[in-house]
Amino acid sequence: MEQKHQRGQWGSNLGFLMATVGAAVGLGNIWGFPYKMGTYGGFPFLIVYLALGVLVGFPIMLTELSIGRKVGHSVLVSYRTVGGPMGTLLGFLAMLSPFLILSFYSVLGAYCVEYMFLNGMELLGAGGLSRASGAETFAQILANQPMAIFFTLLFIALGFFIIRGGIKDGIEKFNKIGMPALAIALLIVIIRAVTLPGASEGLKFMFTPNWEPFTTLDGFLEVLSAAGGQMFFSLSLAMGITVTYGSYLSKKESLVKNSLIVILSDTTVAVMAGLAILPSAFALGGEGAELAGPKLLFITMQDVFNSMGAIGPAFGVLFFLFVTLAAITSAIALTEVLVTFILDHQTARGKTPNRGLVVGLVSLAVLAEAVLVAADGLGSNGLWIPFQETGRTLGASWLDFMDFISEGVAMPLGALLMSFMIWAIRPTLVRDEVRQCGQPFSNRLYRYYQFCIYVTCPIGMAFILYGQLRTFFAIS
Ligand code: PHE
Repeated sequence: MEQKHQRGQWGSNLGFLMATVGAAVGLGNIWGFPYKMGTYGGFPFLIVYLALGVLVGFPIMLTELSIGRKVGHSVLVSYRTVGGPMGTLLGFLAMLSPFLILSFYSVLGAYCVEYMFLNGMELLGAGGLSRASGAETFAQILANQPMAIFFTLLFIALGFFIIRGGIKDGIEKFNKIGMPALAIALLIVIIRAVTLPGASEGLKFMFTPNWEPFTTLDGFLEVLSAAGGQMFFSLSLAMGITVTYGSYLSKKESLVKNSLIVILSDTTVAVMAGLAILPSAFALGGEGAELAGPKLLFITMQDVFNSMGAIGPAFGVLFFLFVTLAAITSAIALTEVLVTFILDHQTARGKTPNRGLVVGLVSLAVLAEAVLVAADGLGSNGLWIPFQETGRTLGASWLDFMDFISEGVAMPLGALLMSFMIWAIRPTLVRDEVRQCGQPFSNRLYRYYQFCIYVTCPIGMAFILYGQLRTFFAIS
């Protein structure tokens, strides 16, 4: 009990939800989901995505929350406690991913802050943004290494000040303001986007049912692995986040309800992000506009704001505020996985940890790797990159390399191991934790959970692993 007290807890279930949805809603929702939905079949993709959410996302999220809350420790100790040596391996994978993801997430977040700043300057009449194309602006930003490093430092420092405040007074407080602000900014951008002349093309791209990818087995498998990989990344699964945030959750709260709310909210924001982006990208982004990844945000969307006239920079500021909020609430969660690990480790060794110091040290370590990614400028500055000579995606930039190890290998492998671990420790552990304090978990739902853990999850996760490796080994 004493230990629990020192670790602190979320102030309320709403606070927990805001923070967990904040972790889930990130760049993946904004530049991954809408494009994949459009490319892989529109509405049918959404159905596949939701089905995977129910068959794989929900049981894994429930498992992570249960293990986190049951053990009440960092992800490594939580997995080790319930899963022995396999749990330890899983714990390490679940800490490696957040650390590596932070290397590029911080730089992408930094670009968002930089764009917000540039649009702000333009609004004040002090910038030359509108005279350059989005592509020119982005090329300059990538090439300007000192500036990129400065904004990366700023982004990490912002996170530092929030996380230093603790679970309740730092992370929860920020998310409780940040997430509603994100929703409002998003709604305003959507209203503008869908009322642009020509917007319907974008909506058609995203929503028109297209059965073509479903007509061959190969096509269908591709849809499955794309939707599965997207779902895992988007829900922040297998990265220690849900275990860590769950470890600060009160026994009184319903894990089933919370898992469902997080999944639904994350998917809703992903669809809404599509409504905010694709109509304008189609209406104003120009011929051959890029519709995915960093180029969608930093080139196409900037072109959209440039072509909106005097009001453009105001929407630019609002839009990049939305993206920055999405990025920082995710970066905070990634950092907290490592911070919680060190704090719990020190407490277990009888020390009284200093949160500020630990957050500072983790932030410095992240800064060190992020500087490399910032200096690399998505591979445009001539830095040496591992596997460069292979011509494959994983050697295209430091970002791709870090992404390969984390999202490509550690995350899906960890996810696959996780289902084997649950086989070994028996799903009853999860059932008993979910039923704490009389929370409902009917026998029928539990049987469904068992079915998912024994059947759908391992199959789904094998697909995800296959899909990720295929992406990274493709010739870029
Ligand atoms: N879920 C976030 C997104 O959709 C990314 C993320 C992954 C954040 C893992 C934290 C951990 O972009």
